[in-house]
Amino acid sequence: MEQSTCCTADGIHVAIIMDGNGRWAQHRGRPRTEGHLAGAAAVRRTVEAALELGIGTLTLHAFSSDNWKRPEQETGPLMELFEEYLRGQIQRLVDNGVRLHVAGRRDRLQAPLVEAIEAVEEATRGRRRLYLRLAVDYSARHALWQAARMCGTADEMPVFERLLARAVHEEEPAPNVDLLIRTGGEQRLSDLFGWECAHAELLFLPVLWPDFGAEDLREALQEFQRRERRFGALVPETGVESLV
Ligand code: IPE
Ligand code: IPE
Ligand code: MG
Repeated sequence: MEQSTCCTADGIHVAIIMDGNGRWAQHRGRPRTEGHLAGAAAVRRTVEAALELGIGTLTLHAFSSDNWKRPEQETGPLMELFEEYLRGQIQRLVDNGVRLHVAGRRDRLQAPLVEAIEAVEEATRGRRRLYLRLAVDYSARHALWQAARMCGTADEMPVFERLLARAVHEEEPAPNVDLLIRTGGEQRLSDLFGWECAHAELLFLPVLWPDFGAEDLREALQEFQRRERRFGALVPETGVESLV
């Protein structure tokens, strides 16, 4: 089986399905949108922690394509929050050597949000300390279907991988995910990852996303380093440098 052909940044790839914002707010008798606001603070904390821990690629799943099924009074403020986050973080990301890419569909996003995405991607292009991927309107199935449609007669896996990246507006294939974390206690994928998680280690945590912090990430990495990865072989694959 061919491995991913391109690596945007060195180091491991951690992906997080950031779930539990709504319940966090509901437990406090607050509207769900407050949970998303608290979730944005957790995103900032987690990016800082990823930088400190030397993670190479961090994918944060923020909004699945199925999340459009939610009422407009939830999706509207969420989209505003994404835009605010992107516009507000540009300088910080640049200063910290973070390259940001928003993965997913863009045809259903409002023009100002697409502009904010393009601005931050442009401003952070070439930064290499951390590759930060924010998944918005992301569907693994849709991406695979789009890539298959574009594929035509291309019969080499690296070509297909590049088409898959293009389907989520990414310039090149992301490195394979090493560790996938889902917060909020649910143990499902919700159409949020596919190809790049073929050999990912999975970790389901009860913590609600707004309560997630540097210590949770550190513990998750410790758990990851205890896992024995065999990739189908009989002998464990070694070589993961200790981060924690
Ligand atoms: C995840 O939290 C954030 C998004 C899907 C946008 P949820 O909003 O799904 O929170 P819960 O699962 O209802 O608690
Ligand atoms: C998946 O969570 C989306 C994100 C966390 C970004 P959901 O809360 O939408 O997923 P389901 O409905 O529990 O499958
Ligand atoms: Mg949820």
